[in-house]
Amino acid sequence: MRVKTCLGVAALALVAVVHAQEMSEAEAIAERIKPVGSLHMAGEDGQQAAASGGGGARSGETVYNNACVACHGAGVLNAPKLQVAADWQPRIDERGMDMLLQNAINGYNAMPPKGTCGDCSDDEIQAAIDYMVKGI
Ligand code: HEC
Repeated sequence: MRVKTCLGVAALALVAVVHAQEMSEAEAIAERIKPVGSLHMAGEDGQQAAASGGGGARSGETVYNNACVACHGAGVLNAPKLQVAADWQPRIDERGMDMLLQNAINGYNAMPPKGTCGDCSDDEIQAAIDYMVKGI
């Protein structure tokens, strides 16, 4: 009886592992960061706390830290990295800023629509992009 229970638990664990592997990397990441919109991430300078509570538009930096950093911080799946000109310039040259915004809103390959920030306005997405290309 005990052995059976153990086997059952092991089988369940295996199913969970197989299922996780079936999900694409992007799906897995999107799934993992879904509730992140309501999560307060410790900011380096404390500005985010002030920016997130008021109900007005969030700053590009806040949106980025809440929704985009998971992929664009480290360049997951070749996401263009924060303020790295070599990653962004070819995209800007090829498509122009308006198209980048459209792709960010509608999704583009492994880039999920609105970067999973479902309650972000178009302006907030644009602000997050502006923040990511700042200085480029
Ligand atoms: C799940 C990972 C993920 C998240 C979260 C994410 N991105 Fe992306 N993003 C990508 C990937 C991957 C690409 C590159 C897609 C390609 O070129 O094939 C990309 C590309 C982009 C591009 C360039 C599109 C183009 O036309 O070249 C913009 C702009 C962008 N993301 C904005 C954002 C913004 C703004 C957020 C947060 C609100 C965000 N992304 C969140 C993965 C992500």
